[in-house]
Amino acid sequence: MKTTAVILAAGFGTRMKSAQPKVMHPLLGRPLVDWAVRAVQSLVDAPPVLVVGHGREQVQQLLGDRCQYVVQEELLGTGHAVWQAEQTLRGAADAVLVTYGDMPLLRTATLEQLLAHFARARTTTNPAIAMLTVTRDDPQGFGRIVRDDAGAIVAIVEEADCTPQQKLIRELNPGVYCFDAAWLWDNLPRLTLSAKGEYYLTDLVGMAVAQGRAVITSPAPTAEVDGVNTRIHLAQASAVLQRRILEQHMLAGVTIVDPATTYIEDTVTIGMDTVVLPGCMLQGDTALGARCQIGPYTQIVDSVLADDCRATYSVIEAARMDAHAEIGPFGHLRKGAHLGEGVHMGNFGEVKDSYLAPGVKMGHFSYIGNAQIGANVNIGAGTITCNYDGKNKNKTVVGDDVFIGSDTLLVAPVTLGERARTGAGSVVTRDVPAETLVYGTPARPAVPREQ
Ligand code: UD1
Ligand code: CA
Repeated sequence: MKTTAVILAAGFGTRMKSAQPKVMHPLLGRPLVDWAVRAVQSLVDAPPVLVVGHGREQVQQLLGDRCQYVVQEELLGTGHAVWQAEQTLRGAADAVLVTYGDMPLLRTATLEQLLAHFARARTTTNPAIAMLTVTRDDPQGFGRIVRDDAGAIVAIVEEADCTPQQKLIRELNPGVYCFDAAWLWDNLPRLTLSAKGEYYLTDLVGMAVAQGRAVITSPAPTAEVDGVNTRIHLAQASAVLQRRILEQHMLAGVTIVDPATTYIEDTVTIGMDTVVLPGCMLQGDTALGARCQIGPYTQIVDSVLADDCRATYSVIEAARMDAHAEIGPFGHLRKGAHLGEGVHMGNFGEVKDSYLAPGVKMGHFSYIGNAQIGANVNIGAGTITCNYDGKNKNKTVVGDDVFIGSDTLLVAPVTLGERARTGAGSVVTRDVPAETLVYGTPARPAVPREQ
């Protein structure tokens, strides 16, 4: 069965009270609409058609060729919205899945069940529509599913149009359907305007029944069908998605000490027996190895940490830590920082665009930028690379086993040879040969005292 999808996302999202289109609001690092697109992506034979309106430039720029786009110029209802996709999709598939761009909790597995149910029935009852339904005590705002005495669906009635009797119905319409494609395109033009001035997609159910075509249903977990209309809903959806992500990690062998204060985006991977302490944010393209200890209160973005690393009260962005490296408390790795195996970075250090080779120790209050630091170098407290002269970023190169005294300023470009040493408070403006001790301002080689 060839399947396509239409995702409705033309609404204003007025209740978000925002200058941004609703579906562009971020939810766990991805815009709302991205979740909707990803839910259907693996189920369709061509990129899903997104019905856009308000803020369409931003949505199109974000999703690019992951979707096809049709514009709904006037918001004339859900039926009218789907109709906009006819030109793009007529003849392209047997089944058309319809979902909403503001329903981020809906899982692929639930849609897959709906499609499978529809596909099976095609050879028997040949339904015009298969749709999800939910049963819940709080029906606020949802269309009601009206069934006849035999239990067959007769219609969907919008809450505003319900009789007092129908209002009591607890089987509800989440708004997710799989249509027989040819039937859909033939019948959308037959919808008539509702009292509200909209073409209701839900009226297709009554039309199918009147034509003697079957309408079948597939139950959905109620937790998946909540749409996002306000920022309160956005936070609630975030909590649900976050819980799913954290539980996946926990089931895969990651200890998360306090799920309530832990934020992990679904792009992040974490190795077994890693422990995430309270207050951490792990974001973007981040991969953590096994047996790491992260936190408390650590943010890691777009970074790779190998096995057995430790990061305490630190911020790590677009950086790398090799096995057994450690940072913090209060360290900052910026773009291009790379700590080699077993590097120790203690309190209040910052590293940017630099490689610290295995065994480097940088205990306290240092800034290292645009530098290459050799193996086992000791970086004394307060050491600073003066890498920026107001125009250019200049490079500092430090050989293996160098000992940099406390409060040394390395004025780049500058190179220190292997096993060189600097005295406390040195201002190093010129290259230092291997095995040489320099000190003072500007730093000069120590001259052996006269006997
Ligand atoms: C719709 C259903 C209702 C269901 C509910 C579930 C209809 C007539 N009613 O009601 O039975 O219980 O969803 O949430 O379908 N949209 C457009 N263009 C439009 C109108 C809507 O793209 O012209 C999009 C919106 O951006 C939104 C989605 O369609 O993502 C649903 O629209 P909304 O107005 O919220 O539908 P409801 O009135 O809630
Ligand atoms: Ca709605």
